[in-house]
Amino acid sequence: MSFKNISRKICIYLLGIILLSGCSSMQKIEKEPLKLKHQRIQLAQNSQIDYLSYISGNDDQEDIQYNSIDSSQLGTYQVVYKKADSNEKQTLTIDIVKMYENGIYSPKSIQATTIKNPEDVTSLVNKTHQIPKGWIPDDLVNVIDSHQQLRKEAAQAYKEFYLSAQDKGIKCYAISGYRTNETQSLYWKRQVQIYGEEYASQYSAYPGRSEHQLGLAIDVSNQLTGDRLSEKVAQAPIGKFIVSDGYKYGFILRYPQDKVSITNYGYEPWHMRYVGKELAKKLHDTGLTLEEYMEKEQSQ
Ligand code: DAL
Ligand code: ZN
Repeated sequence: MSFKNISRKICIYLLGIILLSGCSSMQKIEKEPLKLKHQRIQLAQNSQIDYLSYISGNDDQEDIQYNSIDSSQLGTYQVVYKKADSNEKQTLTIDIVKMYENGIYSPKSIQATTIKNPEDVTSLVNKTHQIPKGWIPDDLVNVIDSHQQLRKEAAQAYKEFYLSAQDKGIKCYAISGYRTNETQSLYWKRQVQIYGEEYASQYSAYPGRSEHQLGLAIDVSNQLTGDRLSEKVAQAPIGKFIVSDGYKYGFILRYPQDKVSITNYGYEPWHMRYVGKELAKKLHDTGLTLEEYMEKEQSQ
């Protein structure tokens, strides 16, 4: 092959590389739409906000424009992100809250969204999602071996769970099932009075924001008297049975130890939430909390 031919081939080869890399970088820009890591987050009052840290997988972050917010005032704010070269926009909701050092925030410092589906067994109720005012379940029944109540479907599932535990020689005492808004309000106020708002925010839901009010949550223990709802439940056979087998009956352990930063509640090895067998299995298999699962579903 002549020198001319070789250099022509090298030129064509180099041109190919240049064109291909040009195409792939063009594709890369097209492939990377503006995407938020979360739709709504809570930040402590007076915190420095790293706005770009809430955008996922973006290399050329200088191109993103956004408005800033005043973190010195409690409240709910919107940050609108926009790419300089397109009309694409994404809105992040930021709640500026009264946050304690352990990362738990006061429910009183946040405006909760009212859910539209309280009758749905998969509905999400937490510090940011409240039950419509005045809504009460219409199919409450007593659970097996107790005066505590749950909605009919959840009570039936609890019965199966309870009997299966019993077959294995595991004791399961129902401590607290359905609660009215008034009862939840009393519990919240009592915790604030005795232990202060920081502790109450960690272990008690603000009235209107408790799953117990849905008739789908039940606190269980290995003992009927004394220190019934403590972390000791985790080591008791019933605590272990909730984790290993609860999902088979449609229950999840709602406030796990390693998900405190997501649920914003302390570890509650006693609090079982009924979500139905299908969702309970998904959550068990993926290890996701209800919050994480719902956020993932919404972003798809
Ligand atoms: N202990 C849970 C958070 C409740 O009060 O519903
Ligand atoms: Zn509970």
